[in-house]
Amino acid sequence: MEHRNGACWLDVEGKPIQAHGGMITRFGDTWYWYGENKDAENCTRDGAPLSRVDVIGVSCYTSPDLLHWTHQGVVLSAVTDSPVHPLHPSRVLERPKVFYNAHTGKYVMWFHADSPDYTFAQAGCAVADSPAGPFRFLRTVAPNRRDCRDMTLYHDPVSGHEFLVHSGDWNKTLYFSELTEDGLGFTGRCFAQMINQEREAPALCYHNGLHYCVTSGCTGWAPNSALYATAQEVCMDMKLIDNPCEGPGYRQTFGGQSTWVLQAENRYWLMLDHWKPLDLRHSGYSLLPMDFEGERLTVRWQETFAGL
Ligand code: DGJ
Repeated sequence: MEHRNGACWLDVEGKPIQAHGGMITRFGDTWYWYGENKDAENCTRDGAPLSRVDVIGVSCYTSPDLLHWTHQGVVLSAVTDSPVHPLHPSRVLERPKVFYNAHTGKYVMWFHADSPDYTFAQAGCAVADSPAGPFRFLRTVAPNRRDCRDMTLYHDPVSGHEFLVHSGDWNKTLYFSELTEDGLGFTGRCFAQMINQEREAPALCYHNGLHYCVTSGCTGWAPNSALYATAQEVCMDMKLIDNPCEGPGYRQTFGGQSTWVLQAENRYWLMLDHWKPLDLRHSGYSLLPMDFEGERLTVRWQETFAGL
């Protein structure tokens, strides 16, 4: 069993996995994959497809081996009965990320909540008692009164704190906004990184005393060059280093865009979306090994992901 990197991956029922802009993490012995369910035709205007689908919600898949994925359903659903609700199908819900909060025993989800024209730009929060949901929507918020577009969650292993990492100031700067102990709000501690560098799609990990942050440039759904940055502490300036990709298509991140770093058996894997803007439900995925030589990070293209 293996999955073709860049292609649309199938679940155990043979259906395209609907977990875009997602993340994979382990709770107990099980792998969980959360992401945007885009299983609808692209919206159209005057018969021409637009590069959006109506919000369906966040799907969750589980797997014992990162290869066989079973759909657990939509764990945070669109809200259809109020057009002004942040989860109404006409709006935008992207890049959901989930972590377990040991202080409350709850599973906390954060996501990018936006209006169809991407001017609302807030972070949405939901909570659940179990990893397969259902998640209860709490609210949307402008973290520390800033905008939030592409985002991820990052557990800083040095301080033990959780951060919402989000593109802010109209995508100019990446902000690390520290979450409160219950994971549901912000402490007010916030660090600006890669100021005016216009990076999005953040995906982070910690290796050998350094935080690594892979990002993309801001070109909508079109692929561009990934860059990685490093810092010894999240509150210190992150330095942009280089494009980590090597292999055919390395200048365009192999046709993909970063969404998450999967940590599995002491190895890191960069998780990419391969967007199909006019057929979003069939967008592909890849998981590519991350190699560290000294402080240098390399991500080499591989045709398939065959598990650990
Ligand atoms: C790039 C982002 O990374 C995606 O999540 C999505 O917001 C598209 N832009 C929309 O154009």
